[in-house]
Amino acid sequence: MTDYQAILDEIAEKMRPNFGKGSVANYIPALGSVSPDKFGMTVQTVDGGSFSVGDAAEPFSIQSLSKLFVLQIAMSDFGDEVWSRVGKEPSGDRFNSLMKLELENGVPRNPFINVGALVTVDMLMSGEGDARQRIRDYLRTLALNDSIDANTVVMNSEIAHSDVNRAMAHLMRAHGSIECDVEELIATYCYQCSLEMSCIDLSKAALPLAVGGYSKLHGDTILSAQACKRINAVMVTCGMYDGVGSFAYRVGLPAKSGVGGGIVAVVPGKLAVAVWSPELDTSGNSYVGTVALELFTSMTKTGIF
Ligand code: DON
Repeated sequence: MTDYQAILDEIAEKMRPNFGKGSVANYIPALGSVSPDKFGMTVQTVDGGSFSVGDAAEPFSIQSLSKLFVLQIAMSDFGDEVWSRVGKEPSGDRFNSLMKLELENGVPRNPFINVGALVTVDMLMSGEGDARQRIRDYLRTLALNDSIDANTVVMNSEIAHSDVNRAMAHLMRAHGSIECDVEELIATYCYQCSLEMSCIDLSKAALPLAVGGYSKLHGDTILSAQACKRINAVMVTCGMYDGVGSFAYRVGLPAKSGVGGGIVAVVPGKLAVAVWSPELDTSGNSYVGTVALELFTSMTKTGIF
């Protein structure tokens, strides 16, 4: 039996020399005030084990991790239509790039870069119910935690600094790729990004992706097996933006990051793992979090390749 607790303790111990090599996101001013030396990590196994180290219980801004869960709701609501509105190819560009959008007629490369995430939330907003409440409640259900909520300071800070995301949304509206009012869309997108969860919450929320959709922890089928297969594939190819190749090479797991410093990753059939450390590398992925996951898959031999 793998002693996950001992492994996490050893990883946390080895992280110290890795601090100070990345930088905390400050293009959303309210995110810049987070302590750079935070580190938390949780492993949630398919048979119900939960192992944590460091600041794993502390909620942080999930940012682009929300894209993983909004995609799941969009796929449940709209099925294959999602893939006619966003692609499934890596972009090779930064997460907030709009360079390819004009060349490719306003159709985003994938649902994890900002342009693609704006399309998936647009789909939710044009459907039944209040999109914000649905996203929050979905996360509460998956994390088994009813206290999950948005941080309105972070949300308003991002709304006030969303010129690039607004530009994308206008360009896509001109191409007919989105239907909603741009300001409403930006406000809802900033809401989903400002939700706060801990590593413990996120490891539970990602678990259905490790078990083909039926989760004993939740006592329910959260996703279809086909949806899990597809989402894990898009995480492998697009989840870490323009750093996706090096992440596959170093860590070797389907994963998704956020500029709050969180990364969730999935070992199919075995576990979900969440790590948080706010200093980012040049692709916008947690620097220390990536080192920790690299060590984790090396020590546990759980990389998928
Ligand atoms: O749209 C943005 O720029 C942020 N709310 C989210 C970006 C993000 O988390 C990218 N991830 N690494």
